[in-house]
Amino acid sequence: MAKLFSYMQNATRLYSSVSGKVKSQKYVLTKYFQGEPKKSDFKIVEEDIPDLQEGEILTEAEYLSVDPYMRAYMIGYKLPTDMIGGQVAKIIASRHDKFPVGKYVAGQFGWRTHTISKPGAPQKSGFLPLTLLPDLGPHPVSLGLGVLGMPGNTAYFGLKEICKPKAGETIVITGAAGAVGSHVGQIGKNMGCRVIGFAGTDEKCNYLIKELGFDHAFNYKTTNIRSALKEGAPNKVDCYFDNVGGEISSTIMSYMNHYGRVAVCGSISSYNDATLPKVTILQPAIVFKELKVEGFLVNRWFNKWEEGINANLNWLQDGKLKYQEKVYHGFDNMVDALVGMLRGENTGKAVVKVK
Ligand SMILES: NC(=O)c1ccc[n+]([C@@H]2O[C@H](COP(=O)([O-])OP(=O)(O)OC[C@H]3O[C@@H](n4cnc5c(N)ncnc54)[C@H](OP(=O)(O)O)[C@@H]3O)[C@@H](O)[C@H]2O)c1
Repeated sequence: MAKLFSYMQNATRLYSSVSGKVKSQKYVLTKYFQGEPKKSDFKIVEEDIPDLQEGEILTEAEYLSVDPYMRAYMIGYKLPTDMIGGQVAKIIASRHDKFPVGKYVAGQFGWRTHTISKPGAPQKSGFLPLTLLPDLGPHPVSLGLGVLGMPGNTAYFGLKEICKPKAGETIVITGAAGAVGSHVGQIGKNMGCRVIGFAGTDEKCNYLIKELGFDHAFNYKTTNIRSALKEGAPNKVDCYFDNVGGEISSTIMSYMNHYGRVAVCGSISSYNDATLPKVTILQPAIVFKELKVEGFLVNRWFNKWEEGINANLNWLQDGKLKYQEKVYHGFDNMVDALVGMLRGENTGKAVVKVK
């Protein structure tokens, strides 16, 4: 299969002088979130786009991402600040010969409609490196924010490099029907593991079992977690991919095998809470089972980003990786989409189609 990014080697250089005439709209956060994010926490601001300099591209957002980290991270920014986030955008003007007009990129441009960026320039922050999207055939370009983007690589590297599962082992995943969780489970099945998921509705659990091949899936809102583990994981748990934190994670970690591995990916169960929950002590399980518990941020693997994208693209093309998206519509609906995702409206990746 053609390697990602390599097909652009012979691209023709195209330049259009669209910039200078374009205005961008962007979300500026003016109040720290309290509880769920609100529209009144933001204002939408218009700004002029300057002329392009050599090596720069101008892009127009097609899909914007809403991700849990947006809820958790903004407390670290001085206000007012531009809202952070990934997007898939079309190149509408270019002074970079490998990034021609008409192609799509994924990048950490924030919640804005138009962006000037410089491919190859060092990226100071964010979870999505600026990359040209490969030809996705029949699939939507929004996959650059999902299975072929940041969540896909979170699943790929988090599972393979932190949990290091072996065929026949049992993996438990919380947040199992979301962008990262649904992907982790499928990689686990591709690696010959037994996969158990916890998700927030019966419909999501049916999807995990019937469509994605999970061995068991349980509704964490209506099931006793310990009973579910006994039923789903009779040989106990070797790997736990933790997307949610809180008491469910303490229960799962106390049900692990000796030398079990825990990939701590996120703790969405508390992102909207002003005070952090108190949970059952974890140290006895960690000590007596000699567990390895490791937190990670996906940008740890920026230096081999392509490896994950290509592996996921291969699985997608071989029919071994399925996806679902929850698509919200309209730049004005970014906050509704963010809140909807935090409330669990999505199965798979939540994205916003800008127009
Ligand atoms: N470490 C990293 O580099 C990295 C990168 C990406 C994501 N993450 C983390 O990975 C996790 C999943 O992210 P994602 O992008 O794949 O989001 P996602 O799972 O697609 O969407 C969030 C999901 O969280 C679930 N949720 C909401 N409140 C919950 C609660 N109180 N308890 C349990 N589940 C709850 C909802 O599903 P239900 O209906 O099942 O409740 C919702 O659909 C998050 O914690 C995120 O911060 C970390």
